[in-house]
Amino acid sequence: PPAVPQRIEEKRRAALLGGGTARIEAQHKRGKLTARERILLLLDPDSFDEYDMFVEHRCSDFGMDSSKNKYPGDSVVTGRGRINGRLAYVFSQDFTVFGGSLSGAHAQKICKVMDQAALVGAPVIGLNDSGGARIQEGVESLAGYADIFLRNVLCSGVVPQISLIMGPCAGGAVYSPALTDFTFMVKDTSYLFITGPDVVKSVTNEDVTQEQLGGAKTHTAVSGVAHRAFENDIDALLNLREFFNYLPLSNRDPAPVCECHDPSDRLVPELDTIVPMESTKAYDMLDIIHAIVDEREFFEIMPAYAKNIVVGFARMNGRTVGIVGNQPKVASGCLDINSSVKGARFVRFCDAFNIPLITFVDVPGFLPGTAQEYGGIIRHGAKLLFAFAEATVPKITVITRKGAVQIIFRGKETDAEAEYVEKFANPFPAAMRGFVDDIIQPSTTRMRICRDLDVLASKTQSSLWKKHANIPL
Ligand code: COA
Repeated sequence: PPAVPQRIEEKRRAALLGGGTARIEAQHKRGKLTARERILLLLDPDSFDEYDMFVEHRCSDFGMDSSKNKYPGDSVVTGRGRINGRLAYVFSQDFTVFGGSLSGAHAQKICKVMDQAALVGAPVIGLNDSGGARIQEGVESLAGYADIFLRNVLCSGVVPQISLIMGPCAGGAVYSPALTDFTFMVKDTSYLFITGPDVVKSVTNEDVTQEQLGGAKTHTAVSGVAHRAFENDIDALLNLREFFNYLPLSNRDPAPVCECHDPSDRLVPELDTIVPMESTKAYDMLDIIHAIVDEREFFEIMPAYAKNIVVGFARMNGRTVGIVGNQPKVASGCLDINSSVKGARFVRFCDAFNIPLITFVDVPGFLPGTAQEYGGIIRHGAKLLFAFAEATVPKITVITRKGAVQIIFRGKETDAEAEYVEKFANPFPAAMRGFVDDIIQPSTTRMRICRDLDVLASKTQSSLWKKHANIPL
């Protein structure tokens, strides 16, 4: 037998090749990078420390114990590395080895990095590309999913968890991404569904393609399962690096602060004219957000779903903030079921990870109609209220305008309407009662928010003891 160092080297070389050159070529032909190429793009150069490169699957049925069916590292590459110098734990499923399917050993490797991430306090990033449960292993594989789901739940609110779907993800496999904080997808090459088109056809007789059922467009615009979609593997991984910069490493870390070249006292003159005086005229809340935040950089979450609310990450004087804004351009900015859930989930993430919230309000109210009432707008709208009320991070609200006058007077009683406007549709009644802290010149919004955030950085607030709250679901 070869000497030990030589054997180590041979195994290492075999691990680096995954399922072999032919399958790597097939992966490239599909427009996909390999598991290792993805890790290299995601992490800083030379920062990847791999774990468990020599782990092999333990299945001996169906000829799986023959040496040609053993691949060092099995079907997932795991380890830790740095993104712009900050620690992250990563697993990247290797489609070239048994279609990236999840064996007991594969699950164990993932669980190991999740456990370490929780102990150390660093985010977990999963790059998903898998044919699901390893068919040859049966229950061993299914038990592996249970181990991962448990860790997804235990880590929730402790370290940020991000899933990037870069290939198939079907059946039980979908629930790990669904339990993480953010799910991103790659256009055209990734899909997520519980049951594929064939099963759908046999049960409901619906004809639907993989792409229609679970492609990036479906999940970012229709189902709300995914938070963003990117053009290809490279675009997705580079965006993930950028996204990572906004996140604290764990719930014990404050929101990160970057060097900022955008003066915190910068006046924003265009804000004096963006918002039309007439309450019925639309404007784009994104224009306001871009104008106020550092360097106009805003990482929007769910930009194609429930567009009547805008949520995402930005920085103010270098510090990460979560932004929530009504969007008057879409359905007059009315809140409905989907936008309430979208907003609530975002607010809860920010609160769990010490990210201050800035809210831009211009809302005529909740969307009327049987569809909304029957759909449970009361229950779902309550989520948004719950999330904001529960949040103990700094919360700054800017009311940019308000509606409601037309609803009460239905455009008829003009004298009464004028009286109402005079009484309530201006900032004074609220300001005189102390419901708002100040009435500011729009152009000074950035300066004022930055000053407030500085003061609120030392905010501490504790809640009554409880096991956990019972948010309406
Ligand atoms: N278990 C074991 N091996 C699997 C697998 C699984 N769940 N899924 C895929 N593979 C293997 C294939 O046998 C194939 O092996 P080979 O390279 O030696 O030929 C390789 O992975 C690639 O799969 P292939 O079917 O050729 O790729 P594809 O792109 O055409 O299809 C899938 C991808 C995921 C749609 C398809 O492989 C599939 O349907 N897999 C099974 C899904 C499933 O039922 N999972 C279990 C329930 S969760």
